[in-house]
Formats: sequence, structure tokens, C-alpha cells
Amino acid sequence: MFDVVVVGSANLDLVATVDRLPGAGETVPGHSYAEYPGGKGLNQAVAAARGGAVTAFVGAVGDDVAGAGLLDVMRADGIDTTAVAVVGAPTGRAMIGVGANAENSIIVIAGANDAVTGDGLPACRVVLSQLEVPVAAIRSAFTAARSMGATTVLNPAPAKPLPDDVLALCDVLTPNEHEVELLGGVDRLLSLGARAVVVTLGARGAALHTAGGDVAIAPFAVTPVDTTGAGDTFSGTLCARLALGEELTTALRAASAAGALCTTRAGAVPSIPYRIEVDALLAGG
Ligand code: RIB
Repeated sequence: MFDVVVVGSANLDLVATVDRLPGAGETVPGHSYAEYPGGKGLNQAVAAARGGAVTAFVGAVGDDVAGAGLLDVMRADGIDTTAVAVVGAPTGRAMIGVGANAENSIIVIAGANDAVTGDGLPACRVVLSQLEVPVAAIRSAFTAARSMGATTVLNPAPAKPLPDDVLALCDVLTPNEHEVELLGGVDRLLSLGARAVVVTLGARGAALHTAGGDVAIAPFAVTPVDTTGAGDTFSGTLCARLALGEELTTALRAASAAGALCTTRAGAVPSIPYRIEVDALLAGG
């Protein structure tokens, strides 16, 4: 039995740092270039594993050097890769620009991620997904999760509209402000059956919405250098803490701390904190 299973994307991130992100039709000089493991699903799985959860990944990579590298990254963090398919399409890529203000812009080429089916979900306590894999995969995985009594958590990023039947399979959603608006708002998501909607607010923390009322989750003051993966770290940490038995508002405080720590380092996977760092920040250290 796994604590957390992430059904999601794995990408190789190609990252350039710039003073400011280019506008349409504009060319700007870059300062540095680096490649990092990433993808919203992989980032979330690493966050869950580093958060202390026994974690498995359900996804797909290409039969190429990048795919083999991402499998190695998962295994190095103790993530079970039994349900990762190796397919005849290129491993997913993300072209990322990071500005001096730590904000980013991202272009994703799905590649192998389009082959994820979500079938064959391993037994688990919490299932987490996002929108870089086909919606049919989320439907399949969350339907199986429901039948095994697992909690379903959807990070609806990147923003896109979703059918009501998929939203009705979500126990918890973690949209940002733009994503929640695109999905019709908090009240609509709660009326479709979500137990909780957690709207992430970046440097302003997060807002928990339930049928019982709203709770503000305070931010942690850090100096950000790169916000890539912070939202993924938030969702992965939240799922780890829920699977390990924490109450929702306590888990959200840890998720907020982990997301803040992620912004203080460059890259996606390399910047995701371990539980000991998160607990130190929570303790005021
Ligand atoms: O959320 C950050 C992630 O989005 C990056 O790692 C990139 O791969 C894209 O999927």
C-alpha cells in the first residue's frame, strides 16, 4: 500500500535565466542555461517522497536518454516506477524562462506524457494528478481511487476547462486564482462534490474553502530566486501530510512552507525540500 500515487507528467526542463521575460515577437539576451528534471507530476511525486510518503508514479517517458534520466531521478528519491511506461514518443520537454524577479514562463511539449492512461492504479491512500496528462487518465485513476477508498486530489494546472464528471471525482482541488476562475469558482467546485478547495495565492499564502467556511493559510517570508515547481511542491507536500494522517489545515501549513522553500533555489526537482527542512521552517528555524 502506497501513501501517495501521483498520476502525471515527467519532463526534461530546459531553463534559461533572463533579466525579464520576452514579450510577443521580442528577443532578449539570456544569462545562463541549465537542464533539470521536472514536469508537474514528477515534481509532485518528489515533493511527496521528500515529505516522507511512500510514493509511486504512474506516467510515461520516451525510450530515450532523457526518459532514462528521469527514471533514475525517481528511483533516487525512492519513488516506485513500476507503473511508468516507456513509450515510442519523445520524453516530455519544457522550455522555461526565469526572470530576475523569480517569475517564469513555460512552454510544454507533452510527448510521451500524452500516452499516460491512468489505468492500473496501485493501492494507496491518496492519489494526486494535474493537467499535463490526458483528462481520460485522470478520470480512470480517480474512478479507481474512489472504489478503493483513496482520497483524490487534483492540482488543475496548467489551466484548462474540465468536464463536470471529472470535477465530481475530486475530493480536494488546489487551483491558483486563474485556474479556479476558469473552473467556475469555488462555490461551483464545492457544489460538484469537493470537500475542500485550496486556492494558492503565491507570496500571499493560500485560502482553504470548505462547506464549513474559509481559512487563510499564512505565507512564509522567503527571498525567491525561481518559482518553478513551487505549486507542485505545495500539492505534493499536502498529499504526503494527508496520507500520513495530518489534519487538513496542519497539512496546508506544511505545504505552504515547502512551497516557499522551493522558490529559494533554482530548478524544479533540485529545489524541492526534504521534510526536515520544512519542519525547521515550521518550527521557526
Ligand atoms: O510546474 C513546473 C513544471 O511545469 C516544470 O517542471 C515544467 O516541466 C512544467 O511541466
